[in-house]
Amino acid sequence: MNLHGSTALVTGSNRGIGRAFTTELLRRGAKVYATARRPELVDVPGVEVLRLDITDQASVEAAAAAAGDVDVLINNAASTAGGDLLGGDLRAVREVVDSNFWGTLAMVRAFAPVLARNGGGAILNVLSAAAWTTVEGNSAYAAAKSAQWGLTNGIRAELAAQGTQVTALVPGLTATESMEAFAREHGLDLPEGALNDPADLVRLALDGLEAGEVEVLDRYGVQAKALLAGPPRSFDLSGISG
Ligand SMILES: NC(=O)c1ccc[n+]([C@@H]2O[C@H](COP(=O)([O-])OP(=O)(O)OC[C@H]3O[C@@H](n4cnc5c(N)ncnc54)[C@H](OP(=O)(O)O)[C@@H]3O)[C@@H](O)[C@H]2O)c1
Repeated sequence: MNLHGSTALVTGSNRGIGRAFTTELLRRGAKVYATARRPELVDVPGVEVLRLDITDQASVEAAAAAAGDVDVLINNAASTAGGDLLGGDLRAVREVVDSNFWGTLAMVRAFAPVLARNGGGAILNVLSAAAWTTVEGNSAYAAAKSAQWGLTNGIRAELAAQGTQVTALVPGLTATESMEAFAREHGLDLPEGALNDPADLVRLALDGLEAGEVEVLDRYGVQAKALLAGPPRSFDLSGISG
């Protein structure tokens, strides 16, 4: 998949990893629909801005109707603040599953026919190393990411016939507002270099997408996948080094 000359849509373009995807896709020569719940917060010049809440079916359908030339869909937007499954606020647990699982599924269902019409194209879902472990203090998020991983594998099989490539990005700690807030809240003192730079992560992801890779892992993704071979346990945040 060559991104130069492609037409991409990114969810959650207004900040964090989504903003980095938006910038890098433009740099690689794609036309980019930059979407956000609050489109006035998108500050990347040269993009087409659309309002999009991935958990609102009417909003998802309106985006698919407005962006009929898309051949690359980047499902990045999601809540990262689920809290604990048992002790946490149930509304936050529902919200994290709503955006990660149901929101991603709504986007894939709405855009699958668009991608088919445009030659197959590609979908990249932003998962997390948490999908393969669990995270103390954020087990609802980890469970939602596990569901999104299953979703990603399922749609890859279902979309193969129409020639749509489905790539999973499986990263760990990345320097965004929400990650920094989580670290502060949980008293994590992360050493220099422990967090990915969002721009580096996105370059890794898009190199993988262009190379036709099914899964793109950063160092945390590699570590988490290896843990799957042993007994289930939490991701060891205390052992993070730069
Ligand atoms: N940062 C990390 O360490 C890390 C590690 C692994 C995976 N990830 C994954 O990377 C992705 C981006 O994370 P991030 O750290 O950049 O998060 P972030 O800074 O919290 O940004 C989340 C983005 O998603 C948007 N969003 C949330 N719910 C939405 C909805 N219902 N409809 C549309 N947009 C919605 C937010 O919009 P608003 O501004 O309107 O809230 C924001 O643009 C997520 O899928 C996350 O799970 C992050």
